[in-house]
Amino acid sequence: MTEPEVSVPAVMRNYHEVLRNDLAKVLAPLAEAGDLARFETAWVGYVDAIAVHAAMEDGVAGAGGGITTMLDLHFDGAVNAALFRAEHEDEHGLQAAVTRAIPLGVGALRDAWVAYRACAEAHLLHEEDVMMPLVARLPKEGKAALFAQWCVSAGIAQGGFDHLVAHGVASLAAFGSTKNTPAGATRVFVQALKAVCTPEQWTRYLPIARAAAAPAVWAAVLAEVPSLEGA
Ligand SMILES: [Fe+2]
Ligand SMILES: [Fe+2]
Repeated sequence: MTEPEVSVPAVMRNYHEVLRNDLAKVLAPLAEAGDLARFETAWVGYVDAIAVHAAMEDGVAGAGGGITTMLDLHFDGAVNAALFRAEHEDEHGLQAAVTRAIPLGVGALRDAWVAYRACAEAHLLHEEDVMMPLVARLPKEGKAALFAQWCVSAGIAQGGFDHLVAHGVASLAAFGSTKNTPAGATRVFVQALKAVCTPEQWTRYLPIARAAAAPAVWAAVLAEVPSLEGA
């Protein structure tokens, strides 16, 4: 059986689908319902995951330099890494405002949440507009090594990479993505993750991914890509 081709950049791009799921399908309904306790739990999971994703974009001192700097290097500064770091700082400010608003009650939370969500969703689109066309122009050969070196090493150095994997797989397996089913979206992400991991890293992240998906979804993923659990 021929397995579907791996889309390496999906390790970054499809995490935007995870974050969109969090924003639109998990957090927004909880904010609307005024369910502060469940909002807080979901919010902490989201904040911890986006911190690792952002580190994979911005880079971490002593580890990978991040996707924005990688693309600047390959495409003559076309991304402007500093601009996206500044967007992350703005987003962080609004994130902190949401965290502070949770104990203040539903009204305060909704105000902070609406401002944060608009900023976060615009940021995802901005990154996609600028980076996706460039990523597509990277040579296919060696793309996985580039993402491993610049992004994955930064995410691992940041700390919380286990959470990034578990949170991402759980979200895609539950909700799918804008254009894909739960099994399809999960498959694309874990296939990319395996491609950018060393065998030792994959030995660690495979059980985390498997445990995060519903068994039926994982079985469907494996049916398409048996090599995820094979040699
Ligand atoms: Fe970002
Ligand atoms: Fe991003």
